[in-house]
Amino acid sequence: MNIQTVPSTPFDDQKPGTSGLRKKVSVFQGPHYLENFVQSIFDIIGAAPGSTLVLGGDGRFYNREAIQVILKMAAANGFGKVLVGRDGILSTPAASCVIRKYGTFGGIILSASHNPGGPDGDFGIKYNTANGGPAPEKITEAVFARSKALESYRIAEAPDVALDRIGETALGDMKVEVIDPVADYADLMESLFDFGAIRDLIKGGFRLRFDAMHAVTGPYGREILEQRLGAPAGTVINGEPLPDFGQGHPDPNLTYAHELVEIMYGEDAPDFGAASDGDGDRNMILGRRFFVTPSDSLAVIAANAALAPGYAAGLAGVARSMPTSAAADRVAAKLGIPCYETPTGWKFFGNLMDAGKVTLCGEESFGTGSSHVREKDGLWAVLFWLNILAKTGQSVEDIVYRHWAEYGRNIYSRHDYEGLPSDVAAGVMEHVASQFAALPGQRFGEYQVKFCDDFSYTDPIDGSVSAGQGLRIGFEDGSRIVFRLSGTGTEGATLRLYLEAFEPDPAKQRVDAQLALAGLIGIAHDLSQLKQRTGREQPTVIT
Ligand code: G1P
Ligand code: ZN
Repeated sequence: MNIQTVPSTPFDDQKPGTSGLRKKVSVFQGPHYLENFVQSIFDIIGAAPGSTLVLGGDGRFYNREAIQVILKMAAANGFGKVLVGRDGILSTPAASCVIRKYGTFGGIILSASHNPGGPDGDFGIKYNTANGGPAPEKITEAVFARSKALESYRIAEAPDVALDRIGETALGDMKVEVIDPVADYADLMESLFDFGAIRDLIKGGFRLRFDAMHAVTGPYGREILEQRLGAPAGTVINGEPLPDFGQGHPDPNLTYAHELVEIMYGEDAPDFGAASDGDGDRNMILGRRFFVTPSDSLAVIAANAALAPGYAAGLAGVARSMPTSAAADRVAAKLGIPCYETPTGWKFFGNLMDAGKVTLCGEESFGTGSSHVREKDGLWAVLFWLNILAKTGQSVEDIVYRHWAEYGRNIYSRHDYEGLPSDVAAGVMEHVASQFAALPGQRFGEYQVKFCDDFSYTDPIDGSVSAGQGLRIGFEDGSRIVFRLSGTGTEGATLRLYLEAFEPDPAKQRVDAQLALAGLIGIAHDLSQLKQRTGREQPTVIT
């Protein structure tokens, strides 16, 4: 096999964000762009010759081409074997599962998660380490530094590898093993949840819909829900993965998963609805005409974890990202287990899980998961809810209402302002932060400011510090306003405004979140001059 060393010039914009490097497809298609980043990863991770790598992606446009490039580069960089999902497909949680199950050196996942795909859409790439989780910042920063100095990359001259059939082929000295992308993951799910109870529930007439949004979870949903759990054909909708996700925006929330929302809020709605995103790590949970916020979902799962066989022994602890509501904290307190507050991004949960300090983790951004893998996991959350529904016999709505009655309700919402000019978004943040010295003690209507800060996190395991993680304004009654800039966008800036209030009284809990939060929303706008500075009357997305 002929190995070429291709001269290249460094890029200065290959800085991984909240979850890997994400750019427009056209950027990745530019000469050497993908190759340089992959070589930077290989140079930094220091895999011993002969190591095994996992490779797969969410099937979006450019997935196939990128897989072939990476295979040839892996061969040229001394890897002994690559486990690649059939047709280059692996959902993000499935990739994490495969890395852990086969004890590989690490894995490369091709995905821009919920960002739209297609030739004009986004592409992304990220490296996961041997624990199955996203590389920590010290690795992603080293990769970025390397990419700014990289002057050549190595690639094998070889024909493309056929990826449509399970089995092993050779690429020079390297083996390429094409694996079933679903089987290992589905087996893991079956080991965690009471599939017998869920099967009986469905047999008894319980109706559900799962919206795969034309993204990667179609085949996973069909195998697990329709084959292994016996749900009727058609339970999985939009189940054909498409390179442009059917021109949709595969983000499971009330705005983008509108087809499912119409079904669940329509006549004769099923008992349960769920959706997952582009790469299968996010989830949205719906009951009949009922939306479960991701923050509440984490808390409900934590409170009912013992109902699932894989969690019957109890939880070591829970963790949530800073902007996620404190609903899980209340459950943890009652269970007598620790609750950790981390910066946004799943990578911050890895150390806690590896150290055995937490079992469940969650983010308000429709991400929930556990230490069964080191990624958030959409179908896992769906199955956890089905397990709880099967064991309690209650409806989604009843489970949540009872939960609120017991623990109080953390009323929650996030307002996103997408596609802002970067300087405008930065100006809003600076303006808010500039008031921090004067805010504590000030009263705004019924709310009195208790503290404000720019969230900084010291990892309790390795002592690493992540600063500048979001502006928090906390009030005496536990309510909160958070301003944060997104780290996953590819165009301009996205400003996220997170709002949270607490309602302990069951008689006042069944209210519309936007109405209940109106006071806080007003304070947030006053403090930030959001409308004046952005010229936006409304958020782009409310979740
Ligand atoms: C967003 C979410 C964050 C999540 C990430 C990757 O990041 O807010 O919780 O971990 O996507 O799915 P952001 O764009 O806010 O940086
Ligand atoms: Zn995702």
